[in-house]
Amino acid sequence: MNKKDTRNIISMRDFKKQEILGLLRLITRFDRKKNPKILKDVIIGTVFLEASTRTLLSFTSAAKRLGAKTLRFPSVSSSFQQKNESFSDTLRVIQHYADLLVLRHPQEGAARLASELVNVPIINAGDGSNQHPTQTFVDLYTIKKCVPSFDSLSIAFVGDLRFGRTIHSLIEALSHFNTTLYLISPNNLRLPDQYLRMLQEKNIVYHECEHIKDATKHCDILYMTRFQRERFVDDEEFDFIESNYSIDLSFLTKHAHKKLKVLHPLPRGKEINNDVDTSPYCTYFEQAQNGLPVRQALLAYALQKTGAPTP
Ligand code: CP
Repeated sequence: MNKKDTRNIISMRDFKKQEILGLLRLITRFDRKKNPKILKDVIIGTVFLEASTRTLLSFTSAAKRLGAKTLRFPSVSSSFQQKNESFSDTLRVIQHYADLLVLRHPQEGAARLASELVNVPIINAGDGSNQHPTQTFVDLYTIKKCVPSFDSLSIAFVGDLRFGRTIHSLIEALSHFNTTLYLISPNNLRLPDQYLRMLQEKNIVYHECEHIKDATKHCDILYMTRFQRERFVDDEEFDFIESNYSIDLSFLTKHAHKKLKVLHPLPRGKEINNDVDTSPYCTYFEQAQNGLPVRQALLAYALQKTGAPTP
């Protein structure tokens, strides 16, 4: 396979509006036409140097359902790191064992670096606090099913906006549309300036709010995220923040309109009470389920083997 005939998926910054919309149409095709065996001669390598359930397993399942073989590279505990082998040496070697590498790495920029080092396409499955583009396509596809248009969408992001890579990626993607954003976080975990500047440059309307109820009456989508305990100096502060940025069914009944949909990339902490799970607000399990057709489409697209599935 020649690398020039393939496509890296590293950051939403690399995607223009038309390409995003084209990919959403492709995902719909994969959702309708289940499991075409278009990757029979392909080996997909998964290199996950951070924990993952959904991304790793949905990529593995997507690959197998398209007829590919999968190769899981050693995880953190048994990996090259224990032998002090450099990341770049490892990648240079393992690129020969697979036709595409799906990489999750704790450091920002690792996926971009990997794409410059190897001769096979790289899919970024999350690099530090930077980007998680395949989750973004899961989110966009889920939102598309809920609202008539991204242009009339109002969406509230709740949680750790400073370090949340799913939020950074999704905001980057939505900045192509006339979406209205509500940004809800503690002051020390506000959205970084680079993203605020990007929104200003593109004339995207955004509101920074302190409380979830400042936004829930106005928005179509409530995108909840988890706080990470390690970002806080003490457990007491973490518990206080987590409980102040959480929702339950009685809160939604009181402060949200009936058609609001709650999304969450998962895993969740205490920010969504279990009593929301069986309500019409709950969309996060459907969102996780969408990971399968989304990752099928992205594997096919990265390998430029999208011809087979037809509606
Ligand atoms: N949403 C997400 O990235 O989940 P995992 O960490 O389980 O892959």
